[in-house]
Amino acid sequence: MQFDVIVLGAGAAGMMCAASAGQRGRRVLLLDHAARLAEKIRISGGGRCNFTNLQARHDCYLSDNPNFCRSALAQYTPRDFIAMVERYGIAYHEKKLGQLFCDDSSQQIIDMLDNECRAANVDRRMETAVQEVGRSADGLFTVRTAQGEFRAPSLVVATGGLSIPQIGATPLGYQIAEQFGVALTARAPALVPLTFHVEDAERFAPLAGVSLDVEVRVGKVRFRENVLFTHKGLSGPAILQISSYWQPGQEIVIDLLPDIDAEAWLEARAGSEQLLANAMGELGWPKRFAEAWLAAQGANVRGKDLAAKKRRQLAETLHNWRVLPNGTQGYKKAEVTRGGVSTKALSSKTMMANEVPGLYFIGEVVDITGWLGGYNFQWAWSSGFVAGKNC
Ligand code: FDA
Repeated sequence: MQFDVIVLGAGAAGMMCAASAGQRGRRVLLLDHAARLAEKIRISGGGRCNFTNLQARHDCYLSDNPNFCRSALAQYTPRDFIAMVERYGIAYHEKKLGQLFCDDSSQQIIDMLDNECRAANVDRRMETAVQEVGRSADGLFTVRTAQGEFRAPSLVVATGGLSIPQIGATPLGYQIAEQFGVALTARAPALVPLTFHVEDAERFAPLAGVSLDVEVRVGKVRFRENVLFTHKGLSGPAILQISSYWQPGQEIVIDLLPDIDAEAWLEARAGSEQLLANAMGELGWPKRFAEAWLAAQGANVRGKDLAAKKRRQLAETLHNWRVLPNGTQGYKKAEVTRGGVSTKALSSKTMMANEVPGLYFIGEVVDITGWLGGYNFQWAWSSGFVAGKNC
């Protein structure tokens, strides 16, 4: 069967692209091997889909070339997506830092995009595994599946990244890029919990569940958010954010008291009979955290027993606690994949491969990775829309 456009992957970017191409009158086939549409939208944002961020700008994205996403983000902005959400009467709220969530359910976003695709006469086929992608002598892309072969002059790859393989992630998009000579950058799990070395894991295991407001740094990058201790290491928004920048072997530096001058605070307790672990309750530290953390520093003592030199060292460590993770929890727990189809190989205005006319890559398969907080969906909408207008 022949179409004008075949879109591989009925996730966030693929559905957006199919709808926008269909609205131009293109005959669009949208293929996915999964049984259900857009599983990642469904599970996103704790079931409420953090569908965009009001502050989405190119400098909230990681890439070999973060400037690449400027054009798509300008062609289809968070406001454009919000306008569609409002048109469908979907109630939403800003949780924090420009992050917009559905009041009710992420299913509303899936239904909205599904409706847009239906209105645009998109032919959608689920549970359709792709067996082979090729190009015929007449220049059409061919997609062989168990349901038959489909052909089109435009092929849009929207198969996402590698995270959460248990709900359908595959490397198909990267394989298609390789097949057509489109460059790739190295890939790694991102927005992912970090794991402790055995020694730290044992020392901090009793802290699982403790959450603190901190500032986390790697190199020059810093995020002020919560860190969460887990049975395996560290998680929470601050860690997920920094994980995207973290390279194996690198230390992360945590300011455990970002709003307080730790040395002055300790000095004020220099004559005190009170155990520091108890006094730290006034800083908002849970007692079990204070006890375990201070014990690890050899400083679970009374204020008056902390010598001046030790006090200075402890203050320094409170502001610059260095942790050397031994890895990440990998694609099983990562929200996204960092790296992918090189932006150098694509047009930022259309998302088409420079050297392969008719072949497009959109969404997470591209080397554009957003911060936590709705940025990744905005990239999916923007890149999908742009490709849909051009394919
Ligand atoms: P996406 O993964 O959405 O879609 C890819 C599609 O391709 C899937 O339907 C898949 O089945 C299909 N596919 C893959 N291989 C195939 C093959 N071989 N043959 C056929 N089809 C194939 N982002 C955000 O901005 N806000 C949020 O709240 C969250 N929350 C969140 C929670 C969790 C748990 C995860 C894992 C991720 C998020 N994200 C997020 C990230 C966000 O989900 C992600 O960036 C987008 O879904 C990417 O959209 P894509 O369309 O590129 O891929």
